[in-house]
Amino acid sequence: MTSEVPGATVAVLGCGLMGSAVARALARGGHDVVVWNRSPAKAQALEAEGIRADSSVERAVAAASIVISVVRDTDALREALGAQPRLDGRTLVNLTTGSPAQAAETLTWVTERGGHYLDGVIGAFPDDIGRDHCVVYFAGPRPVYDAVEHVLRAVAGTPTFVSEDVGSASVLDVGIVGMFVMPTLVAFAEAVAYMTERGVGADVIRQTLVRDLSALRHQMSDLLTGVETGDHATDQATVQTYAHAADVFLEEVRASGSRGRLLEAAIDVFGDVRDAGLGGDGLSVIATLPAAHPGNEF
Ligand SMILES: NC(=O)c1ccc[n+]([C@@H]2O[C@H](COP(=O)([O-])OP(=O)(O)OC[C@H]3O[C@@H](n4cnc5c(N)ncnc54)[C@H](OP(=O)(O)O)[C@@H]3O)[C@@H](O)[C@H]2O)c1
Repeated sequence: MTSEVPGATVAVLGCGLMGSAVARALARGGHDVVVWNRSPAKAQALEAEGIRADSSVERAVAAASIVISVVRDTDALREALGAQPRLDGRTLVNLTTGSPAQAAETLTWVTERGGHYLDGVIGAFPDDIGRDHCVVYFAGPRPVYDAVEHVLRAVAGTPTFVSEDVGSASVLDVGIVGMFVMPTLVAFAEAVAYMTERGVGADVIRQTLVRDLSALRHQMSDLLTGVETGDHATDQATVQTYAHAADVFLEEVRASGSRGRLLEAAIDVFGDVRDAGLGGDGLSVIATLPAAHPGNEF
């Protein structure tokens, strides 16, 4: 492959909230953009902003050297492209949310049709697209990424290549957004409900949060060090200490009539650690617990 695709025409498939933001950012970045959407009105709405719309997905793909998918899911992408799309020499950048297995399947599917494939994961909202702080992860063959990176910069201020394992961007999405950010935000919403109910206002929470987030960063870094070294000993706080405090917290939350479902989940995990005889270790020992699949429970 060449290292660049000068004057690339980029087709954006899917003009929902995210697809429209991606198309606008590409156009702002000076790229020739053609958009397609299953229901044509959303694509046509972008014409007012100087972006070309095409009601035929075949024509939009044929016109482009880079095709960016931002439809709802992998099934929608296959449905949109049809069984035998002409992808010869084109690069499909799939920003549609999917699993690592779907990324691997789509890589094979695209390669069989003569195209190149990159899996992408957007860790941002539509308003962030095109801005410096916008986080988008990519995975797949490095030469494919290198050839289109200059175009991807219009979408993600600083695009991040994760690895050549095509599922690795999706693994980050599942782990960070699915398993960490989502429960954290749900826990925060429950915590805010409890605190405001008990008379601690949003302004106080906002001030306190700045301090607490930097503590959280340190704790996350220490936890990663424990996982890297396999040394889970702590001279700061054992899981047992967290567990005792968590029991006190949950009793208070329940007594005040609030919900603390993520706190309950944490207490469940602390219980698993205690049952495994590891309560004297630090929090990083949680990462060593076996998966709770049927037949694999404690
Ligand atoms: N919004 C975010 O903050 C965000 C953040 C990260 C990742 N994402 C990911 O970006 C993707 C799009 O999200 P969105 O927020 O733009 O959702 P959205 O506003 O609901 O748009 C969904 C898009 O998918 C299209 N679509 C649905 N089913 C289809 C099908 N069977 N065939 C063809 N097109 C189909 C819709 O077309 P119609 O208009 O015809 O229904 C529309 O263009 C999702 O995978 C989402 O997880 C979104």
